[in-house]
Amino acid sequence: MQVLGIDVGGSAVKGLPVDTDAGATLAERVRIPTPEPATPEAVAEAVKQVAASFGWSGPMGCGFPAVVQNGMVRTAANIDPGWIGADVAALLSTATGCPTTVLNDADAAGLAEMRFGAGRNASGVVVVVTVGTGLGTAVFTNGKLLPNSELGHLLLHDMKAEHYASDAARKRLDLSWDDWGGRFNEYLRHLESLFWPTLIIIGGGASKKFDRFSGSLVLRTPVVPAFLRNDAGMIGAAAAAAERRAGGTSRGEG
Ligand code: BGC
Repeated sequence: MQVLGIDVGGSAVKGLPVDTDAGATLAERVRIPTPEPATPEAVAEAVKQVAASFGWSGPMGCGFPAVVQNGMVRTAANIDPGWIGADVAALLSTATGCPTTVLNDADAAGLAEMRFGAGRNASGVVVVVTVGTGLGTAVFTNGKLLPNSELGHLLLHDMKAEHYASDAARKRLDLSWDDWGGRFNEYLRHLESLFWPTLIIIGGGASKKFDRFSGSLVLRTPVVPAFLRNDAGMIGAAAAAAERRAGGTSRGEG
């Protein structure tokens, strides 16, 4: 099936058409800076522009940087608080005219990696961590997702882990890759002591820079970069939409 995959992030709204059987992208992505403030109306308009740039009227899947239950936004750590309680699936469907499935952005990226990427043959517990404006997580057991895990909000040094070790924290504090890598390693060690995964996959914008900080990671668990890099969120959102449509529903995970 061909589905438009959208990734709403802290810095950009991105989209491209995806072949959801192959997990392959079908065009160059379109990227629009995330509007400020990123209110529901402004973000819906940005998504509409991305869809329009492909002349899209078919199904759409969208990764969104918050807890999303049954199409409804429940949290707003890195987006406008006006999103809380919004029916993002309905809003984007109405704005674009495309039937839209919405799920958490890290869950979307994780699904893509488990189906088509670095976690394809992985069994046991796999934790996917997306590093960007926040720290997103997706937890899988034998390929099955535990949705909305929100492990970027675990406490580390009395603060939310994503305030200590996200890519935004690296930029804000102007940390060297070694210094940031040390922080990120602490975070991953905390995760591994709680979840005992068999594999950790690093996604998000920082996955492209994996070589710059992989030397700082000292863990008992194998850690690999996302195979689909930063496209994973769009591919996974499209794949989730295709799966839910096949299952007779176009609502988000919850
Ligand atoms: C949000 C998560 C999201 C992550 C990455 C966190 O602040 O709470 O829902 O997955 O950022 O965007």
